[in-house]
Amino acid sequence: MHTSALASFPNARFRRIRTSPATRALTRENTLTVEDLIWPVFVCDGENVETPVPSMPGVLRRSVDRIVEAAKEAADLGIPAICLFPYTDPSLKTEDCAEAWNPNNLSNRATRAIKAAVPNIAVMTDVALDPYNINGHDGFVEGGVIVNDRTVEALVKQAISQAEAGADIIGPSDMMDGRIGALRHALEQNGFSNVILLSYAAKYASGFYGPFRDAVGASGALKGDKSTYQMDPANSDEALRLVARDLSEGADMVMIKPGMPYLDICRRVKDQFGAPTYAYQVSGEYAMLQAAIQNGWLDGDKVMMESLLAFKRAGCDGILTYFAPEAAKKLARS
Ligand code: PBG
Repeated sequence: MHTSALASFPNARFRRIRTSPATRALTRENTLTVEDLIWPVFVCDGENVETPVPSMPGVLRRSVDRIVEAAKEAADLGIPAICLFPYTDPSLKTEDCAEAWNPNNLSNRATRAIKAAVPNIAVMTDVALDPYNINGHDGFVEGGVIVNDRTVEALVKQAISQAEAGADIIGPSDMMDGRIGALRHALEQNGFSNVILLSYAAKYASGFYGPFRDAVGASGALKGDKSTYQMDPANSDEALRLVARDLSEGADMVMIKPGMPYLDICRRVKDQFGAPTYAYQVSGEYAMLQAAIQNGWLDGDKVMMESLLAFKRAGCDGILTYFAPEAAKKLARS
């Protein structure tokens, strides 16, 4: 910025460009469009089922048939991608997490159903063991330790089953080391050279994931916390090293998670690498806003749009948000 080139008052009046909607539009630096949105959804068993998630007002767990309907609506609204998270029946959770790579698990069934019925929406899937793990962790637990390398082998099996089901974008959210390289290699070897890896590269050990863990039924199972694999909220340089590492191992897109408390990381990552960069406005951010909106303390439409625009301003190319359909409708009206 060339501050020396600034005129002084009254030559410079910043209010001039704010005078009318037309001049505000002309001088607007960032915009949010429907094409910036990825919609995370929760899949459950059964047919014709929609169960509200109490800590996430407006969010439902949907059976596969209802997920297909939701995907159709999303595609009609112009939302480019939907991201699937399974609510796995507790009886299918085991120590070996074998349900994670079952070709007929919920996530894979939902992927196939969406790709058959709504081919033009991109399907993103989640790679991590927590929905299938008896102890709620993203990796295998051996003697109280979350083990890295054996987990990566399982993640590879999980990702290949997702690619076989038709996933367009695979999102490893597990934070194990070396998984992007292993996944990229396995995808290439198995004929999936066009499957995209959107790495949860800078994922923090955050308190803002609580409502999500309720939604996927992992809260009760989780023993301890995830701080031996997710990032320390105090760190920022480390995020850059993780993004560099994941890009060098074959990630196509990178994510920062959570979103709003980590906008500084979004900006640093975008500035440093210029790669396709995404933020996840996580469950706790959504819950926090909805709680205040429901109390009448905040204007829902306003804070929804403002919170999403913030990610664009911070340099993100897109946002995973539970607000996606609502925001898309709002954008279509304006
Ligand atoms: C776990 C996973 C989590 C989220 C996405 N994938 C939670 C966690 O790490 O415990 C959180 C998403 C949200 O809070 O909306 N693999």
